[in-house]
Amino acid sequence: MSGIPHDHYEPKTGFEKWLNKRLPVVGLLYDTLMIPTPKNLNWWWIWGIVLTFCLVLQIVTGVILVMHYTPHVDMAFASIEHIMRNVNGGYMLRYVHANGASLFFVAVYIHIFRGLFYGSYKAPREVTWIIGMLIYLMMMATGFLGYVLPWGQMSFWGATVITGLFGAIPFVGEGLQTWLLGGPAVDNATLNRFFSLHYLLPFVIAALVAVHIWAFHTTGNNNPTGVEVRRGSKDEVEKDTLPFWPYFVIKDLVGLGIVLIVFFAVVGFMPNYLGHPDNYIEANPLSTPAHIVPEWYYLPFYAILRAFTADVWAVQAVSFLTGGIVDAKFFGVLAMFGAIFVMALAPWLDTSSVRSGQYRPAFKWWFRLLVIDFIVLMWVGARDTEFPHDWISLIGATYWFAYFLIILPLLGLFEKPTTPPATIEEDFKAHYPGAAE
Ligand code: HEM
Repeated sequence: MSGIPHDHYEPKTGFEKWLNKRLPVVGLLYDTLMIPTPKNLNWWWIWGIVLTFCLVLQIVTGVILVMHYTPHVDMAFASIEHIMRNVNGGYMLRYVHANGASLFFVAVYIHIFRGLFYGSYKAPREVTWIIGMLIYLMMMATGFLGYVLPWGQMSFWGATVITGLFGAIPFVGEGLQTWLLGGPAVDNATLNRFFSLHYLLPFVIAALVAVHIWAFHTTGNNNPTGVEVRRGSKDEVEKDTLPFWPYFVIKDLVGLGIVLIVFFAVVGFMPNYLGHPDNYIEANPLSTPAHIVPEWYYLPFYAILRAFTADVWAVQAVSFLTGGIVDAKFFGVLAMFGAIFVMALAPWLDTSSVRSGQYRPAFKWWFRLLVIDFIVLMWVGARDTEFPHDWISLIGATYWFAYFLIILPLLGLFEKPTTPPATIEEDFKAHYPGAAE
């Protein structure tokens, strides 16, 4: 597909011409900043910038924290206390980094659900979506690795439980777990490799973000109507879009500013609200905490992991059919990764001819239920597995799969969508009748 027709950078001065022949970097920046962007984007479109900000914030604060952190089991916990008490502004750096991870996940969940509602994953944006899913997986891995570094009780036991999941894989699991840990149990080798990978992955994410942006700059942004920018002529493009600079830059910065007011209120006034008190106790391999709870952003998928116990008939059936190779534990692991995998397949599972959920009356209800389902799974993921929590997780997990594997494919066939506006310009004028051309 060719790009959207718009003005391209023309080098003017002698120096610009000289540089452009050798490295067209100014042209690249110009085209990125002046990219035609649908006029009608709403506030749900600010989260991409918030995510970009979070990535930079995590890298900058992380690199400074590392200057004072020691990745050794005898010193890690004490080095964190040293950062909190002795390093100038150290407590602030640490709280910004720890809560920054939470902001990152708040932003990514809103960004993903925005995409799910407005059908941003649908053709031709499948590659943007898949790269996004890879970024999300990398974020989950980075968050998990980072949580082990303070070497508190939750760090240690979280690492034990999560690497234990790999141990559930038939035949190769035990070897794989030992290989991941660098030994038979979570120890110094584990801490060292987790530290190394926690430092590396954000740069992999940064590279993936560049590809993500490249992908949606090639197709153009989606927008709340799901109607594409007209590409016939430059004149048509100009009626549907505005250059990203200055309007969208300013709008995104206003959005980011409001988000940061809330963020810094949390960092300043309740920095440990999202943390677990047990992580202020140094890791002790001989004392298991009463409840091992992951960070809030893993809870929906943790609930799915725990939902499929040996009592569930589907687990029993699969176990019987595979001669016991897939037991309840492995089934849970498959379900957890499967829950993300089915979401990645959304572009191919959604059969609707209309892209945006705004014009899909039945879809809207199922989508709202999916959001509620996600929140309920998050809630139940932090509870014990007694009745009724076991049932709630099972129903929640089943709905998650049903939404992607059954509801999305069938809705497209049976639902009667309403008619979207013919053009973005028409939608824009309907919302802002007095706006200048
Ligand atoms: C570090 C993480 C990420 C960053 C920095 C990022 C950044 C961005 C930015 C700047 C945009 C432009 C529009 C907007 O601001 O919403 C965007 C669009 C998009 N992102 Fe992400 N993203 C990230 C993760 C994800 C994830 C996890 C997904 C879901 C799988 C995803 C799916 C999409 C899709 C489908 C679009 C196109 C939507 C449109 O243009 O309407 N992104 N992303």
